[in-house]
Order: sequence, then C-alpha cells, then structure tokens
Amino acid sequence: MHNDLKDFVVPGSEEEDLLRQIDFSRLPQHLAIIMDGNGRWAKERNLPRVEGHRTGSKSVREVVETSARLGIKYLTLYAFSIENWKRPRKEVNFLWKLLEEYLRNEDKVLVENDLKLLTIGRKNRIPRSVTRQLDRVKDLTKDNKRMSVILAVNYGGRAEIVDAVKRICRGNASVVENLTEEIFSSYLDTAEVPDPDLLIRTSGELRISNFLLWQIAYAEMWITGLYWPEFRKKHLFQALIDFQKRERRFGDINAHPENRSVRATGST
Ligand code: IPE
Ligand code: IPE
Ligand code: MG
Repeated sequence: MHNDLKDFVVPGSEEEDLLRQIDFSRLPQHLAIIMDGNGRWAKERNLPRVEGHRTGSKSVREVVETSARLGIKYLTLYAFSIENWKRPRKEVNFLWKLLEEYLRNEDKVLVENDLKLLTIGRKNRIPRSVTRQLDRVKDLTKDNKRMSVILAVNYGGRAEIVDAVKRICRGNASVVENLTEEIFSSYLDTAEVPDPDLLIRTSGELRISNFLLWQIAYAEMWITGLYWPEFRKKHLFQALIDFQKRERRFGDINAHPENRSVRATGST
C-alpha cells in the first residue's frame, strides 16, 4: 500500500478493501467538490441549519487529508457561492465565521502537510476579517508543493467568465483577435490550475449551481445522495473507483490513455 496511507485505514476494514481497488497511477489530478446538504442534514436531526455547516467542516478536514495522502494534486471546494448571499443574514454570518475559524485552526495542518491554499471567486463583499485570514494562510503556504487546496469563496462561474471577458477587453485589439480557449483559460481565476477531472456533488442534486462552468467541460461527475456532513474517506474512495471505470473520450472515439484532460495550462 501507498506509504502515506499506512496507518490511515483500519486493517481488514471496508475502507482498506476500497483503497486496494484504487489505481494510484490513474488518479484524477484535480478533484472538485460541491459540498451540499448541510442544511438538510441538520433539519433531519432537528438541529439548526448552522449545525450542519459546523459538522460539514469536519468532512472538509477529512477530505483534505485523504486527498493529500492519496496523491491528488488539486482539490477545489465550493465553500460559498455568490448566490449564497441570498440566505438569511444569520446563516451567511455564520458561514463566514466558520471559514475564519477553519483558517485560524487549520493553518498548522496545511503547513505540516505541505499543502498550498489558493482561492477563486470575487474579492469584494467578503468580510475583512476573513480576507485577512485568507491572505495570511495563502502567504504562509505559498511555497508548498504536495497539493493545492482551492477554496471557492464568493464564487460564481458566470461572474468569473464575465470578469475574464472584461479583463480581455481592457487589453489591446490583438488580444481579442488572437483569443483561443487556452488564452481565455489564463484569464480565469483558475489560470494556474488544470481543469477538474472529477466533480463530486453531495446531497443528490443533479445540478452544477454555477460552479466552474468553463472548467468542467469534460469533468466526470459523481453524485451521491449523502449529505456533506456524512461524507467520509470511504465515499471518496468509492468515487475514485467509479471514476477509474469511466472511459473518457473527450469527443474522440477512443479512450484517452491517461484518464485526464489535456488542456490549456499544459500541466497534465
Ligand atoms: C451546503 O449546504 C453549504 C453551502 C451552500 C454553504 P447547504 O446549506 O446548501 O444545505 P442544503 O442544501 O440547504 O441542505
Ligand atoms: C452550491 O450549493 C453552493 C455551495 C456548495 C457553496 P447550493 O445549496 O447553494 O446550491 P443550490 O441552491 O441548491 O443550487
Ligand atoms: Mg444546498
């Protein structure tokens, strides 16, 4: 078994069995997750919605650690969408507080595990105390190499595309004239990051909810009815096993040998 995973799963457990089925040479390079269902998880337990968010942050910890140990290079987590501002003020405030707390507590874990924090999303409207923590932890981890954790905060796929178009139009006419998909990608918030290979959504909703619209053109989707607070490493293992059974053709008639997209950033 992979060195980083020894002592990580209980011998003889279902997790260990699942782990053995994973082909480490064909992992997704970039995993993106729509972490959904916190509110419903809480409601079913007669708890306030915010308790779902609090418990959901434990799933975040587990998924970050598991992804890093597996050898995934990029993990993008949808933490707060631009549309989430529509929610009651109390819930919105709680979500920002929770993120701030996560950043205060998790910085050591990120450093010790050689993880780099990045963010995507609009910079405006985010409470100043959260921006401060984001900037602090991003700076603290900027040279780390093992895996990038990309938090989508105040993020909307359409907003990101509009912002990219504005930046392109501010350039000279030749930028527009010579625009290609690769160049367009370099104007997005994800310029430095390859496209996701696998997109997981919890809570059973069959939609994208304005997440990474451009980047998921050829992502494989894995949707589970589990609510985010219930998501554990064994579910991630199941998603990876299913992903590895898919034949990714990218429009061709044959499968792409590496099971991952070859694109823009050239980092495949
Ligand atoms: C996902 O859970 C967390 C965020 C959107 C921040 P929800 O809060 O959307 O939970 P449901 O979908 O209402 O159950
Ligand atoms: C998507 O979940 C946003 C995040 C996970 C941050 P939502 O709960 O906001 O999506 P909809 O409203 O069900 O589409
Ligand atoms: Mg939801």
